[in-house]
Amino acid sequence: MILGWSVAGSTQPSTDASSSIPGPIEVSDEVLYANAHPSVSHMSPDFASVFGDCIRMTRQIVHSKDGQPFLIAGSGTLGWDQVSANLVEPGENALVLHCGYFADSFADCLQTYGARVDQIKAEIGGTVKESAIESALKSNKYKIVTVTHVDTSTGVLSNIQAVGDLVRKVSPDTLVVVDGVCSVASEEIRMDDWGIDVVITASQKGLGTPPGLSILVASQRAIKVFENRATPITSYYASWKKWLPIMGAYEKNSAAYFATPPVNLIYAYHASLRQITQGRVSLEDRFKAHKEASRRVKKTVEDLGLKCVPLSEDIAANGMTAIYFPDGLGASDIIPRLLKRDIVIAGGLHASIKDKYFRIGHMGITVVDSERGDIDRVINALKETLAEARASRT
Ligand SMILES: Cc1ncc(COP(=O)(O)O)c(C=O)c1O
Repeated sequence: MILGWSVAGSTQPSTDASSSIPGPIEVSDEVLYANAHPSVSHMSPDFASVFGDCIRMTRQIVHSKDGQPFLIAGSGTLGWDQVSANLVEPGENALVLHCGYFADSFADCLQTYGARVDQIKAEIGGTVKESAIESALKSNKYKIVTVTHVDTSTGVLSNIQAVGDLVRKVSPDTLVVVDGVCSVASEEIRMDDWGIDVVITASQKGLGTPPGLSILVASQRAIKVFENRATPITSYYASWKKWLPIMGAYEKNSAAYFATPPVNLIYAYHASLRQITQGRVSLEDRFKAHKEASRRVKKTVEDLGLKCVPLSEDIAANGMTAIYFPDGLGASDIIPRLLKRDIVIAGGLHASIKDKYFRIGHMGITVVDSERGDIDRVINALKETLAEARASRT
């Protein structure tokens, strides 16, 4: 249970309410408790070994043997800055695969650092077609291709394995960058097996930690590209030149300083990572639990005669559901009625359909700890809300 959330497209609840937004998600008591750890020195041996564990466990989550994690105070957006500042030199080409709002922002960030950006836009609710990616890769030399694994604005899930395979086949030197802010720990990611060079994420969604930590894993291939760049790095705080020695030191369980790490958040992240990698539910079962919860929510949506934003279930995220309001009803009919039942959901975000849909998050403890009954509560509240809203219009 949480107190007072501010959510785009909804009203602020005044009492305890269950958060069912696609991040920040509710976190376990153990994580909250760890977040309340005294703010010890970032140079202390205890903190250094906790940080080192976090680096190692982060690799496990994305199935990477030797990728380089960067854990830096900041939000998911800092991952875009890291990629733009370290891997793409001014004037180089980037191809952004667009399934919603967050690709526009990534493209904007890349352009800010001087990249030339091409976007391939999928229709709303769809994913970018492989034939379009292939022809773009054949017609231009791209330093990176970016793909949003789950676009939080549409709930669309992209097949990053297929994108990785395609890029490797058609343009082997191009780096594959995955925005996994809304997918890490709720969708399977196999960085090494799928030929992915960078996974960007953040603490506040599937990783079940309060917001404020930028988490990125770069393949050794990406690190080589960074090391061989011809021009200076175009950021100070986001520079891997600064952070690589820091991550290296912490991984050896000793400390080094460039900028103060978010000490408490690292303890919280550590507690969550331990639950995810060593808890009673394995990582594989965690992904299955997300699929099962997602299936239940989407089945309810279908039974209620509503339509999801993703055009088909095979490209729908498992950690969230984006749902069109039914004909004749809008946000003011649905969101306050859900709030009355202590369910906080998110409004629309994709500019073209912003007022036409809403979003429900089902990630982390909400789905893994079935005893909480969160999914049942959301499903029942949705059914009651729809019945009440429809009745009020007749
Ligand atoms: C897919 C995706 N990418 C990037 C971001 C940006 O992350 P942050 O808001 O933590 O900066 C978000 C935020 O929700 C997201 O959903």
